[in-house]
Formats: sequence, C-alpha cells, structure tokens
Amino acid sequence: MKRVLITGGLGFVGSHLTDELMAKGCAVTIVDNLSSNVMTPADYPGCEVLVGSIEEVYPTLLETSKPFDEIFHLASVVGPAGVLQHAGVMAQSIVMSGEAVTRIALQHGSRLVLASTSEVYGRAGELRESDGCQVSSDVTVRLEYAVAKLTSEVAALNRAKVTELQVNVVRPFNIAGPRQLPDGGFVLPRFVVSALSGEPLTVFGDGSQVRAFTDVRDIVSGLQAVMSSGKNGLVLNLGNPANEITILDLAQRVRSLAASKSEITLVDPKALFGPLYDEGIERVPVVEQAFSELDWRPVVSVEQTILSTLDWYRRRLGLSQHESVGVAA
Ligand SMILES: NC(=O)c1ccc[n+]([C@@H]2O[C@H](COP(=O)([O-])OP(=O)(O)OC[C@H]3O[C@@H](n4cnc5c(N)ncnc54)[C@H](O)[C@@H]3O)[C@@H](O)[C@H]2O)c1
Repeated sequence: MKRVLITGGLGFVGSHLTDELMAKGCAVTIVDNLSSNVMTPADYPGCEVLVGSIEEVYPTLLETSKPFDEIFHLASVVGPAGVLQHAGVMAQSIVMSGEAVTRIALQHGSRLVLASTSEVYGRAGELRESDGCQVSSDVTVRLEYAVAKLTSEVAALNRAKVTELQVNVVRPFNIAGPRQLPDGGFVLPRFVVSALSGEPLTVFGDGSQVRAFTDVRDIVSGLQAVMSSGKNGLVLNLGNPANEITILDLAQRVRSLAASKSEITLVDPKALFGPLYDEGIERVPVVEQAFSELDWRPVVSVEQTILSTLDWYRRRLGLSQHESVGVAA
C-alpha cells in the first residue's frame, strides 16, 4: 500500500487530494494546523491526522518506521485576504515548512511535490515558466507571500542538485470549486454565498481583472500527474487558459446560474480588507510545458466549476437543490 503524506490535507485542495488518494487505497497521513481548514480530523477516520504546523511536528515524522512514498506539500497561508493577517511572519512559515518536508523526503526517500503559486511571477499577463520572475521594490504583503514561495522553490530545487532529493514544483493558477471558503478573499465562493443569500455580489474595482479559473479536480489530477511522472526538478504551471474570464463576467455568470436576484455592486477592496490589500489585474497561465511533460489536460469548464460550487454551498447552507434566498421568480 502506497504511503502518502499530505500537508494541509484538511484544506480546500488537500481535502480533495486526500479523498482521491484514499479512494485509490493509499495510506494517507495528514498534517494540518487548522488555521484555514475546511474539513476536520473527524471527517477522515481512515487517515492518520497530526494537528500542528508541519515546520513544528516534522521531527515526529522523521522518526516514523514506515517511510512515505510520496509527499504533497500544500500547507500554506493562502488567499489575497488570508495572507494579510500573517504579514511579517508568513515568509518564515512558508520557507520553514518547505525545509521540513524536504528533510522528511530526504530521510524517507519520498518523492516530493511542492505547491507554489502563480504569484511568484510578480507581474501580469500571460505567464510561462521560462519567462522568469520579477521581484518588485514595492514591499507589499503579497510580495512576502510570493518571495517566500519562490525561495522555497529555489531551495528545494537546489537541494535536489546536491542530494538524492526528488522534487517537482507546481504553480497553480486561481483554483476554484467546492469546499473553497470565502475567508481568504477568494472570489468564487464570495460570489456564490452572496448569490445564494440574496446579498449583493461585490466586485472589486471595475471588475475588469482577468483570471483563468482552474477547477480543483483538474488541479488534483495535475498534482498526481506530476507525482507519477517519474521526473525530477520540474517547475510547471497548472492552470486552464480556456477558462479566462473577467471578474465582472464571473459575477454575472454566478448570478445567472444561481437564478439569483442579487445585485452586482462595484466596491473598493481596501474598504473591506484595509489598506494592505493588493491583487493583480490579469493573470493567465501558459501550460504548454505541463502538456508536454505530463499526461494531463484540464477539462472542467468555468460553468461546471460554478455549478458544483453552488451545489456544495446549497448543501452547506441547508438549501434545497436549485434554491436560493432571493431566487428569481
Ligand atoms: N487556492 C488557490 O487558488 C491557490 C493558487 C495557487 C497556489 N495555491 C497553493 O495551494 C496550496 C493549497 O491551497 P488551498 O487553497 O487548499 O488553501 P487552504 O487554506 O484551503 O488549505 C491550506 C491548509 O493548510 C493548513 N496549513 C496552513 N499552514 C500550515 C502549516 N504551516 N502547517 C500545517 N498546516 C498548515 C491550513 O489549516 C489549511 O487546512 C497552498 O500551498 C497554496 O499556496 C493555492
């Protein structure tokens, strides 16, 4: 039986990956510090769950007699609003957690996949791995997240050059789907909850920001494709350029698919999240490298992602199927 460690396994992406690997018969160990989890340890009676930060609990795992075959490192502070409360301390946590999983992987001989982020590019536009990353001189909280993720990537990739470490890095773009919480400032769950509750859908700025949303199921299949690729030292964008959409269009699609009467209002996000809030204007993945290195294609449309997210939130809010408060007549 394959033994797999998933850090952040109670979070949005991690819980979907946990479900998938459990269904495949893997023995899954989760480490999660419950800082932004959507699932709880009680939801996974079939897994070993260690509650704590990976950078603190990893010595316990170094000593385990049964080594992990695979490690997916997903634990992180995340989200445009989620990062704000960790300003000044998030860099240390991100870098130290990367170091912790590297040590476990080296000790156990495990294959490691690190979840980085498209934020490392530090700029807008169509983003490809060969273009390199820019470090802004503007010291923002978002910069701390991006630079820490990039540092973690570079340290792991360099470690792989001088040791037996087998590591690949993925840079996901705007993941969305069921179980994503609105707390981190993620736009789709915010819109879905508002549409189902009859509250206004608040679009930041003029809503012209472009995103290519990638369904969580496609990210989970991408993570597994990277893990099973047999390759080492890859850095790959994971995203779905076919799902490119402006945030204003997304709000309209959510309202229509929810059959909601909610208004769409334009707001200044700094009025909601404070002066440190910051987000990019346009971010679209180029995924040719992932297509050539992996047997993987994203297949879920933005409409399917909206519908499955609506379904999940209806259940969470105790609404019947197709129901929303403020439903269109
Ligand atoms: N959601 C996105 O759009 C997106 C985009 C790009 C990259 N990513 C990356 O994907 C990964 C997963 O993101 P997500 O959206 O599932 O986030 P999430 O917040 O839903 O899940 C992260 C989980 O990790 C836990 N956690 C946080 N710090 C930890 C630590 N130091 N030790 C142990 N557990 C810790 C949290 O409690 C949570 O359960 C992250 O590494 C994130 O940077 C996400």
